[in-house]
Amino acid sequence: MKRFLLAVTILTGLSMATEHKVTYPKEYRTWTHVKSMVINDAHSLSDPFEGMHHIYANTKAMDGLKKQDYKNGATFVFDLLSAERSKEATVEGERKFVGVMEYNNTKYPKTGNWGFEAFAGDSTDKRVVKDSGVSCFQCHVAVEKKSYVFSEYRK
Ligand code: HEC
Repeated sequence: MKRFLLAVTILTGLSMATEHKVTYPKEYRTWTHVKSMVINDAHSLSDPFEGMHHIYANTKAMDGLKKQDYKNGATFVFDLLSAERSKEATVEGERKFVGVMEYNNTKYPKTGNWGFEAFAGDSTDKRVVKDSGVSCFQCHVAVEKKSYVFSEYRK
């Protein structure tokens, strides 16, 4: 009986599972810079990713990249700025959004244990993702073998 009640409690808890929200990655500009890339308008991902992005990883995410094993709290940031092109150079413009992937093996079961979110421009609370990260995840599934992370570790 005790065991049955426990099972019911757990199941009820699961079905009522609250939606978890990814927290804004404060101070991510002090994290490790993983890589950068400029996406031009001819790229298939130019909507919405056109511009210059820099990817950052916190300490746990760097560990995960090296070991291919992520622990709760590992976080990557995809910092997208517009790219201002001239004949001489391509430089950073305004921030378009801050994309975030936060690893947690209890909070985000539907999206590979990663919480996906994007914050508009320089805002820390204007959330852009409306479908709990499902559309983000559907593309990241391409790298399921790498725990849904595209970036690779380099020295
Ligand atoms: C159409 C495919 C696609 C979609 C949709 C997509 N991403 Fe990505 N994402 C990528 C690719 C490709 C990279 C690697 C970029 C690079 O190599 O510079 C990436 C990288 C990232 C990274 C850095 C970690 C990593 O995997 O390298 C974060 C954080 C991220 N994306 C967040 C998001 C969020 C949040 C969303 C939804 C708002 C999203 N992504 C939607 C393709 C996608």
